[in-house]
Amino acid sequence: MKEVKIGVIGAGWMAKAHTMAFRNAVSVFGTEFGVPVFEVIADINEALAKQAKESLNYNRYTTDWKEVITDPTIDLIDISTPNSMHYEMAKAALEHGKNVFCEKPLSISGKQSRELADLAKEKGVVNYAGYSNVMNPANAYVEELIKTGALGQVMRVTATYDQDMLLDPDLPITWRHINRLAGSGALGDLGCHLLSVFHVLLGDIEKVSGMQSIVIPERAVSKGSKEKAVVENDDIIQFLCKYKNGAIGSIGSSRVATGRKNYFYYEIQGTQGSVIYDLQRMGEVQVYFKKDEGRDCGYRTVHLNPYHKGFSAFQPAGGIAIGFDDMKILQAKEILSAVTTGTDYACTFEMGAKVDSIVDAVLKSIETGEWEEV
Ligand SMILES: NC(=O)c1ccc[n+]([C@@H]2O[C@H](COP(=O)([O-])OP(=O)(O)OC[C@H]3O[C@@H](n4cnc5c(N)ncnc54)[C@H](O)[C@@H]3O)[C@@H](O)[C@H]2O)c1
Repeated sequence: MKEVKIGVIGAGWMAKAHTMAFRNAVSVFGTEFGVPVFEVIADINEALAKQAKESLNYNRYTTDWKEVITDPTIDLIDISTPNSMHYEMAKAALEHGKNVFCEKPLSISGKQSRELADLAKEKGVVNYAGYSNVMNPANAYVEELIKTGALGQVMRVTATYDQDMLLDPDLPITWRHINRLAGSGALGDLGCHLLSVFHVLLGDIEKVSGMQSIVIPERAVSKGSKEKAVVENDDIIQFLCKYKNGAIGSIGSSRVATGRKNYFYYEIQGTQGSVIYDLQRMGEVQVYFKKDEGRDCGYRTVHLNPYHKGFSAFQPAGGIAIGFDDMKILQAKEILSAVTTGTDYACTFEMGAKVDSIVDAVLKSIETGEWEEV
């Protein structure tokens, strides 16, 4: 049993989700992959840091993130701050030889993310990018269908990740609307989750051609204020892409998708079979196999069950619901295991840098009006 001392930076939603996940990873998987010690939580907002220390049961709190990174006793730095801070914080953590778990996106530009991926490789430490959808047993099932050839040659992917969280024009501006803080809009916030899953399922993208729409071009600087600020990035993004394996696709994302709450949806069509997946019905994958053509042809529903990688850690029988926090528990276990025993993982900084280079290429194609190579 090896202890992993954790220092978290940022005390918001993800800090809470990660802490619950690290704690539950021990209940679900036992102690053999490592035992988290919740040493320090940092937030620029002292009241939040103090409250999180109490509610999440950390040994101490601070308002200075650099103190977490320079603490020689910390084994793992967990970066759960807004996007624009990831680069500086991850770079400093890597330079101090720390293992790093950094929320997505890795940074606000492909260039910064490439630098982080190269530095992480040079330092030889754990470098984990927070793409938790990759851990979903449904995606592991689809990966198996693709890799075993059950779908044949993948020809086409259609996907969208839609929410309507920012549909209300009276909501004030946030860091998510400003490029120097967020990097991009719906694409970097939501669409990148699809890109991370497709990186595992389909490999690298060769080229992209995109368009965007800013539906609400300005918002109040604060709730109720008459003063307005400009929304700088995509409320809606849509792009065509060509994968290196020959598949072509259309991928989109919207943060103003009226009626959509967390609609992470994809359809993958292969020469021998196809799949449809919607995260809002997390435990169900729709599959169609050409070999079953005949009287009862058509899509059918596969319910996630212990056969699918990751599922049996939670439930002993198929069809019992698993959820968002369970993906985080699988992620936490993978991180602990990487730190204590050096096991491999898909969501490296290298993968994070590749996702961010796709985002950059899509944004460039919007500017130039041309197809852009990734
Ligand atoms: N993987 C996922 O499913 C998922 C889901 C939501 C958010 N995210 C990502 O997680 C990150 C955090 O998002 P969130 O929703 O938890 O945000 P949040 O606003 O809830 O929390 C961020 C916290 O960081 C703090 N902070 C800001 N500047 C700081 C600084 N200099 N030093 C210390 N603390 C500072 C803020 O005060 C805030 O409490 C974002 O990059 C986001 O894209 C990932």
